Amino acid sequence: MLAEQTAEETDEAQAARTLEQLARLLRQLDAAYHQADAPLVDDATYDRLRTLNTLLEKRFPGLRRADSPAQDIGAPASGPFRRHRHMVPMLSLDNVFGREEFDAFINRIARFLGLTEAQAHELAFVAEPKIDGLSISLTYEHGRFIRGTTRGDGTEGEDVTANLRTMDDIPDHLPAPYPDVIEIRGEVFLSKQAFLELNAAQERAGEKPFANPRNAAAGSLRQLDPAITAKRPLSLFAYAAGFCSAPLAATHHDYLKQLEAWGLRVNPLSLRVGNAAEAEAFMARLARGRSALDYDIDGVVYKLDDRALQERLGFAGRAPRWAVAWKFPAEQAITRLEKIEIQVGRTGALTPVALLQAVNVGGVIVTRASLHNEDEITRKDIREGDLVHVQRAGDVIPQVTGVVLPRDVERSPYVFEHVCPICGAHAERPEGEVVWRCSGGLTCPAQVVERLTHFVSRDAFDIDGLGERTIVEFHELGWLRTPADIFRLHVHEAEIAGRDGWGKLSAHNLVTAIEARRTIELSRLIYALGIRRIGINNARLLARHYGSLANWRQQMEKAAIIGSDERLELGSITGIGTAIADELVAFFAEEHNRATLDDLDSVLARVTDEEMVAEGALSGKTIVFTGTLVTMTRPEARAVAERLGARVSDSVSKKTDIVVLGEKAGSKVRKAAELGVTTMDEAGWRLLAGMPPITPRHE
Ligand code: IVH
Repeated sequence: MLAEQTAEETDEAQAARTLEQLARLLRQLDAAYHQADAPLVDDATYDRLRTLNTLLEKRFPGLRRADSPAQDIGAPASGPFRRHRHMVPMLSLDNVFGREEFDAFINRIARFLGLTEAQAHELAFVAEPKIDGLSISLTYEHGRFIRGTTRGDGTEGEDVTANLRTMDDIPDHLPAPYPDVIEIRGEVFLSKQAFLELNAAQERAGEKPFANPRNAAAGSLRQLDPAITAKRPLSLFAYAAGFCSAPLAATHHDYLKQLEAWGLRVNPLSLRVGNAAEAEAFMARLARGRSALDYDIDGVVYKLDDRALQERLGFAGRAPRWAVAWKFPAEQAITRLEKIEIQVGRTGALTPVALLQAVNVGGVIVTRASLHNEDEITRKDIREGDLVHVQRAGDVIPQVTGVVLPRDVERSPYVFEHVCPICGAHAERPEGEVVWRCSGGLTCPAQVVERLTHFVSRDAFDIDGLGERTIVEFHELGWLRTPADIFRLHVHEAEIAGRDGWGKLSAHNLVTAIEARRTIELSRLIYALGIRRIGINNARLLARHYGSLANWRQQMEKAAIIGSDERLELGSITGIGTAIADELVAFFAEEHNRATLDDLDSVLARVTDEEMVAEGALSGKTIVFTGTLVTMTRPEARAVAERLGARVSDSVSKKTDIVVLGEKAGSKVRKAAELGVTTMDEAGWRLLAGMPPITPRHE
């Protein structure tokens, strides 16, 4: 995308500068690739830079240099896109629930871009109703609809082209002019009217009704037979851009107009708002009109209008920094709390759960709700049998917010037993915490089973054939107590084969699946440990930052000292806050956790970083920024580098791959030269990172 875009937009003077930088940059990349056998970037990035060079030379033949990289032999071309992989990932959105949080969102943008308060005040947004449906991606090649996919995990989705073709709102052809390739994103949904009719038909046919329009839309889109989908009146609102092979509109507002011109439906309520006050007013208007709409919405999405700024802001974790979902306040209902059940999690936490008489809360049937902890039950004086208020906000687990008073009959207060309901061990509550934890540790089947189930789950070790039921079975037999025991199961292969429901083949398959996982990516291993607050995204951040298991362990143990360099480094990783850092330190402070890691280390063949190598243009590389950058702030530069898979460091060492020299770069220049580390100026770095040529920040 950027190669063509940059080539088309460039004037001659800029082109000459870019060609000069490209000649230098491609020479450096070639040297690293051919001589050092250590490519600095992935093939796709290399190809993009070469293509840019070719396009510029074609457009300005007079500028072709004597040392043009076009004379050299390039790297192998990267393969075609995989069928279900989105060309540009499909992101989700961060939520805000009020004006204060919305203002904080704007402040974050301002800080990232280095804007003054006055400039921040002038940022315009496009407000769009947030449709409660399913996001999809439509690919058009040369104006023809060729593929449609669901969001999936954001990176890869399911191909539902045949079903989408049945929808009236999705044109088969875009009227010219159109880019060669474009991904258009939008929301598929079912109107309230269509939902009611569909459920009536379901009931007539003796089938289960859908819980809400969103589920009905999802079910309709995943039909194996497109003829069934065709009978369901699905609708689409288009609202975002994925990949695009040519420059798109400069503002999101104009992009929406372009979508309309192509015959796609854009929500007619979408509106450009000039500041936070206008955003708030839009929110209030829509909240009033909400029930009159023929489709479900759960808030408003605010998107920064300026697409060049969107590009600079990029995303953090799974959500863009330039957009946010402002949600309506939660929906409430009243129902009877029949019983309080205590669940035991993999960290031993005892969580009280309310079992409710089924009730419809804002379109969703709710039968369970979280009660959080003992203090919450006491504070709200919730008793078994009470009528209670239940609320849900968006995808959040439903909650019991209070009791309907006065009670219809008097009941005795709830007594929270400080005993594990599964293993009978006593529960403990560390000082300053609200959660009671089972003290049974690995003798508590609930904890062991939960923990091992997490260990083999999809984003962790992903072992086929080892589900919760099997884990329970092997745990009862005494074969499985710790994660490392999984890798000792092979000694029981013959016994497994002889058990009920098993055979020679299935036992062998299980052992093979386990063997294949003796080599594992570091991020999966970190996630598998089940440390509180470490989901797969944080695990990836850590893996990317620390590179190896040994280094991570060592750094985490040193980070135990508050104020140590290691603790500061941990806190400086974008996305890792204090609470997460505390959890990591606490995990490593426990002798039994270190023992678990030692044990695992002894059964694993290798812990690798391949996952990241496949991911970003600069995966596994270490970059140092020095001196003053003029086109971006330091946090922005760091974020861009990390997005490309690189690790950003403050000091130059033998391990450094690239040093980016800003203005007035100091001693690090000499150090880099001494160590033979590749250096480049800010313009070179922008090229490498696929960013448009310089537009200085201070004008
Ligand atoms: S924009 C970076 N716009 O909300 C852009 N999303 O919570 C991300 N959604 O997965 C999406 N209406 O399914 C966008 N006008 C709208 C939307 C919208 C509904 C959904 C979408 C997305 C989810 C994120």
